[in-house]
Amino acid sequence: MNTAGNPEKARRWLEEARSRTPHHSDGSILGSMTTAPHPIGVEAFKEFIHVNGNDPVIYPVVEEASRILIEGVGALLGAEHGIHTSGGTESNILALYIGRRISRGRENTVVAPSSVHRSIDKACLLMGCRLVKIPVDPLKPVDPGVLEEYVRKHKPFAVVVTAGTTEAGVVDPVKEAGEIAEEHGVFLHVDAAYGGLLIPFLHRRGYLAEDLRMYPGVSSISVDMHKNGCAPIPSSILFLSRRDYIEEACFEMEYMPRGRSCGLLGTRPGGAVIAAAAVFMTIGAKGYEENAVRMMENALYLHENLSHLPMITSYKPILPLNVFKSTIYTYEELFKALLDRKLYVYKSPSLQALRVVVMPHVEKAHLDRLINALKSIHGVQ
Ligand SMILES: Cc1ncc(COP(=O)(O)O)c(C=O)c1O
Repeated sequence: MNTAGNPEKARRWLEEARSRTPHHSDGSILGSMTTAPHPIGVEAFKEFIHVNGNDPVIYPVVEEASRILIEGVGALLGAEHGIHTSGGTESNILALYIGRRISRGRENTVVAPSSVHRSIDKACLLMGCRLVKIPVDPLKPVDPGVLEEYVRKHKPFAVVVTAGTTEAGVVDPVKEAGEIAEEHGVFLHVDAAYGGLLIPFLHRRGYLAEDLRMYPGVSSISVDMHKNGCAPIPSSILFLSRRDYIEEACFEMEYMPRGRSCGLLGTRPGGAVIAAAAVFMTIGAKGYEENAVRMMENALYLHENLSHLPMITSYKPILPLNVFKSTIYTYEELFKALLDRKLYVYKSPSLQALRVVVMPHVEKAHLDRLINALKSIHGVQ
């Protein structure tokens, strides 16, 4: 066996793999909550690719970047404290971990609407806690009265609500959930991985009644920078209502220059935090607001067009996330037919439907391609 390195072979493999890997700019990625990273983010990530984000002593730029992000994004949500993480999943696990650490004399239980992201199931499995799900219509937010009943009955240490659900873009009543959490002394985590950089803008521009803030009673909010923040993967922020909550997420690490490490990961891409900060600075709150409006208008355009198609049921988007289904094919069959045409949508199993997420890279022309494919699959002229 030849064990010598083979740079030529590696290059050929990369070249070939590149040619078969879809890119956001080709308009085929329509269901994922990822987007093309902003060019300044790519530049910054490359430049700081060697930086270990777990070592702020050698690399103070990591803490600088983190501060820029937390101040900038936090200002949109009325939040001051936070920690940069690798994504929505890490933010959710960390939030529940902090909630468990600070809870006193409550059940080892988390209460959440059934529309919650699967990473909450993952967090509860990892932490050995019971997850009680409130059955909800996937197209509707949880009823605050029902949420309170569950809190009274199950005495959870934490409640999770979602500001922009994964399968339908529904925004749970965050303010009311905060009031319930405050009254019952429960840690309230708001999963705004998807909606965090949409809701404040779409509310201000009149598309959405609900707003998103660190309301009284809210303990944490997660916002993904690698979703609508246009930052390279991996990038999310977990905002916390109190500075001392961050301490609960820090662990002794004596051999490191700082002597401790905060968050779930050890060595981590410092380039990702620096890139996210550079992207946030470049786009600015105004740019994110313009993006949100453009994306929402595109989602409404898709809904309008799908509504006119016979054999397609389309649900009016709440955020720029479209859910639709066929009256003659199952959603699995339709998913496969679109995949065969190299159109990559995702699924909304709770609605037996398909999901398109109109992310910053999605243009009307990409949506037209999808509409035409659906027409052709259904034999419509
Ligand atoms: C509401 C919500 N929370 C959390 C996540 C998990 O995010 P990530 O894939 O970055 O871990 C997602 C992913 O789509 C999501 O939609």
